Amino acid sequence: MARNATNKLLQKAKKLKSDEFYTQLSDIANELQYYKEHFQGKVVYCNCDDPKNSNFFNYFVLNFKKLGLKKLITACYKEQTNDLFDTKETEHAFFYEYSGTENGYLNQADFVYFKGDGDFRSPESIELLKQADIVVTNPPFSLFREYVAQLMKYGKKFLIIGNINAITYKEIFKLIKENKVWLGINLGRGISGFIVPDHYELYGTETRIDDAGKRIVSPNNCLWLTNLETSQRHEDIVLTKTYAGNETEYPRYDNYDGINVNKTQDIPYDYAGYMGVPITFLHKFNPDQFEIIRFRKGNDGKDLSINGKCPYFRILIKNKRI
Ligand SMILES: C[S@@+](CC[C@H](N)C(=O)[O-])C[C@H]1O[C@@H](n2cnc3c(N)ncnc32)[C@H](O)[C@@H]1O
Repeated sequence: MARNATNKLLQKAKKLKSDEFYTQLSDIANELQYYKEHFQGKVVYCNCDDPKNSNFFNYFVLNFKKLGLKKLITACYKEQTNDLFDTKETEHAFFYEYSGTENGYLNQADFVYFKGDGDFRSPESIELLKQADIVVTNPPFSLFREYVAQLMKYGKKFLIIGNINAITYKEIFKLIKENKVWLGINLGRGISGFIVPDHYELYGTETRIDDAGKRIVSPNNCLWLTNLETSQRHEDIVLTKTYAGNETEYPRYDNYDGINVNKTQDIPYDYAGYMGVPITFLHKFNPDQFEIIRFRKGNDGKDLSINGKCPYFRILIKNKRI
């Protein structure tokens, strides 16, 4: 096979690896507990979920009454192969609607087959999206930007899992800065791990087999992203440090009128100007307390630097209360 083609295949395999992370019920329940009041009388759509194996589907069926849901729609994507030599019978994409009547029983006879592949961007899936109030899932990481853009386009409420890196995507950061989207409660080690298929190669220390024999990887680099309100995000970060008298601890940037702060808990409570903080700040960010100004770059369009050296990526913020 030509080298280029091999590379392409390898890249595709790498990309698809994290697309095959399946979410554990415990991690879903751990996060969803903070949003219960949003679901009363609502239609939930899980648009990247096979109800035969999705714990998002399981969670909403199990909690259908408790949450007071109106309807749960779950849509399963099936990649359509055009390979002439593929002998597998092509599986069909479908969706399944649950209204709390049949005791959670998943009856194959009630599957509605899509004409297409059930891609979340397909007109058929978008029609279902339009009916939904809240979208909750773990979408394919490789399509994360597009996925969020579509939710914003259709003005949907959502709670989804993504990679922590997504914060640094220009499009996603812009939404966070504009206070249209924010981080959920759990992130990193707060999401205990994902179920992976049998063909997934387990390596490293962050892997295990659970009591039920499921293969689990814990990448510790994921987060929940949402536009559903929680009271937690309006809690102030407790600030105990002063700038006055400790100026040397907070060096100024070469290319921006602001000071560098290495840890969120070290943000001084008495500094009125711009401050560069690590991206993990966003996990504690309260929009009533701070304003996000910009990401990473100084006035010259280059990464923020101190005496010519760049600390890790910084988010520039300002205290709203002083
Ligand atoms: C990271 S996995 C998560 C699966 C499930 N949501 C869960 O959390 O267990 C992403 C899923 O998205 C599906 N998928 C991939 N591309 C898709 C697309 N274009 N449209 C809809 N679903 C897609 C994959 O088949 C895979 O099941």
